[in-house]
Amino acid sequence: MDDSKLYAQAQQAALSAYAPYSKFRVGAALLCSDGSVFTGVNVENRSFGLTVCAERNAVGAALVAGHRDFIAIAVATPDAEYPVSPCGACRQVLSEFGGDSFRVMFGNASDSIVSTDMGKLFPHDALHELSGAGGA
Ligand code: THU
Repeated sequence: MDDSKLYAQAQQAALSAYAPYSKFRVGAALLCSDGSVFTGVNVENRSFGLTVCAERNAVGAALVAGHRDFIAIAVATPDAEYPVSPCGACRQVLSEFGGDSFRVMFGNASDSIVSTDMGKLFPHDALHELSGAGGA
């Protein structure tokens, strides 16, 4: 699947975000090695600290369907004035399943997509020997 198609799925997902407090919608589309795609949106809560980001909800959706072999993620933030990259917490969670070459795309419009990888977004990643991603 090409980058723009994956990004389009993230854009579509963002329309379903639940972001009544921040008014900042986020959609994520996670591409698995077999070509399947799982999407997620940010889900906010009136107890603000309970908010879960789009990226982590996409990871959850993929895991429920039995997928954990991820190749890339696209993140769309249509309400932003500039491309917004995954937050630190999401980088940590994504790093559980993807190595340095895991591709990460983000943008606020299809003509402004930044394409990078986890190695750049989350350098000096540690404790991979503790990762259980290959196990139960
Ligand atoms: N948000 C995400 O969904 N992903 C990120 O990587 C950054 C932040 C959400 C959380 C909150 O609902 C809104 O964007 C504003 O921070």
